[in-house]
This record gives sequence, C-alpha cells and structure tokens, in this order.
Amino acid sequence: MQLRDKVVLITGASEGIGACCADAFRGRGARLSLTARSLHKLERVGGAEAVITAGDLKDPEVRRRAVESTLERWGRIDVLINNAGVGLYVPAWRAPEQDVRGMLELNLFAALGMTQLVVPAMKQQRAGVIVNVSSIAGLVTLPWFTLYSASKFALRSMTDGMRMELRRDGIRFTTVCPGYVSTGFQQNVLAGRPPDKLWRMRRFAITPEQCAHAVVRGVERGKRTVVTPRMGWLLLAGRTLFPGLIDRAMERIYHGLDM
Ligand SMILES: NC(=O)c1ccc[n+]([C@@H]2O[C@H](COP(=O)([O-])OP(=O)(O)OC[C@H]3O[C@@H](n4cnc5c(N)ncnc54)[C@H](OP(=O)(O)O)[C@@H]3O)[C@@H](O)[C@H]2O)c1
Repeated sequence: MQLRDKVVLITGASEGIGACCADAFRGRGARLSLTARSLHKLERVGGAEAVITAGDLKDPEVRRRAVESTLERWGRIDVLINNAGVGLYVPAWRAPEQDVRGMLELNLFAALGMTQLVVPAMKQQRAGVIVNVSSIAGLVTLPWFTLYSASKFALRSMTDGMRMELRRDGIRFTTVCPGYVSTGFQQNVLAGRPPDKLWRMRRFAITPEQCAHAVVRGVERGKRTVVTPRMGWLLLAGRTLFPGLIDRAMERIYHGLDM
C-alpha cells in the first residue's frame, strides 16, 4: 500500500511504539488520527494536523468517538493500528480477576471493538488495512507473562480469522509480533515485575523507532505477520520443533536459574 495521504488511526499513540508509528506514518505522508488516555502527550505527538481523541479505550464510547471524529475530519479510514496494550506480571494461578479482566478488555476487546467500528467504512471503500500489535508472547507462551501471552495469542487468532472473513471485501490484516522493545511498557504494567534475568536481556531490545519502521514496512508490503526483531522466528521454530527444550529454558529464566 502506498501511504501518501492515507488516513491512519493509531491507538495507544501517546508514547512508545504507537507514538513512533505516528512519526513513521507521518513521514510517509499519511494523515493521522491518534487516541490514548493522555491528551497532552497525544497533542505533542500529533501536532496541529492530527485528529486527537483522549480517553480510556476500554470504554466503548471513547472508541466510538475516535472512529467518528476520524471519519468526520477525513471521510475515510485506510489503516487502523490496534496498538494500545498493557502487561501483567502476576502468575496466572494467583492473578486478581479484576486485573486479568482489565488487561483482556484493553488487549483484546478494545481491538475487537475498534475493528467492528472501522470495518463498515472499509467495506464501503472496498479497501483497508487493520494491524493488530500482538507480541512474541503471542507466538510462544512466556511463563512470567502467562495471561498476557493468552491475550496476545487470542488477538493473533482473532486477526487470522478476520483476515479470512474479510479478504473478499478488500480488507487486509497484519499481526505484528515485537520482541523486547525499549519503551515504558515494563513500568506501565498493571501489576507485578519481570524476572531479574529478563531485565538483563534488555541488551537484545529494539527501539520503538525500529519497531515502528517494521510496522510501516509491513503495511506497505501487505505482510500477514511481522516479527521484529526477526530472531523471534527462531524462537517460534525452536518451540515448534523442540517444545520440551524451550519450555525448560523458559522455566529457568522464570525461576532465575542459570541457563
Ligand atoms: N514494549 C515491548 O517490549 C512490547 C513487546 C511486544 C509487544 N508490545 C505491545 O506493543 C503495544 C505498545 O506497547 P508499548 O511498548 O508502546 O507500551 P507503552 O509504552 O506502555 O505504551 C502503551 C500505549 O497504550 C496506551 N494505553 C494504555 N492503556 C490504555 C487505555 N486503557 N486506553 C487507551 N490507551 C491506553 C498508552 O497511553 P496512555 O497511558 O496515555 O493511555 C500508551 O500510548 C502493546 O500492545 C504491547 O502489548 C510491547
């Protein structure tokens, strides 16, 4: 897809990967509509031109406003990036139900809600791209992130299904699976903290700018799945071929043991 003058709606655009996606799509000449809770951060990212909708995306009314104000201003939506998401570092067997539901509301239901609002316009246009930001944790279950992994697996599965439901309407779907990205994500989690060993793996982290670049390229090239960094494919292959071995390695990280 050629991005000049295309209308791109990005959720979770006030910081991190979403804010860098806004910069990257603007750099390609796209028109932006941005949403997240923090108004002043969105205004800083969006500048004078972007449509801004501030509010909690778990609220259906906020989602409705984000889509309607975009359509009012630009008359169409070419790309939806469902990027807003949050983590939860609490073992599944004792995770507070309220936190689990809150995470699923944002990571899964908000993405579904935004998609349901945008699809009628895209069907009319007979074109559109919907990008769902999943995670490496949506390809391989991470034991320090069991329920977050579940939310990202569900998002990926939903994306695969809707791709088949809507391909004949000209709507394309891309799943993005980033590995460790150096953003405020680790600090913004709902509860808990990552195992110490994981902190030490920060040296393998990519920047949010690199991640955003991968998202833009994925949209331009019509990719089904973007894994960034590409090393993530190796982890998936390893988990598919040697599930027991990879599980043991994950367990050792989780329990803080030497590899
Ligand atoms: N960072 C990583 O290592 C990593 C790896 C794989 C996948 N991901 C995924 O990538 C996506 C972006 O992550 P990130 O690293 O950029 O995280 P981040 O820096 O914490 O940014 C999260 C964004 O989501 C918004 N947000 C959070 N809760 C919201 C809510 N209830 N309603 C509306 N907006 C909300 C935040 O803005 P406000 O606070 O202003 O609302 C912010 O703009 C997430 O889906 C995450 O799961 C991240």
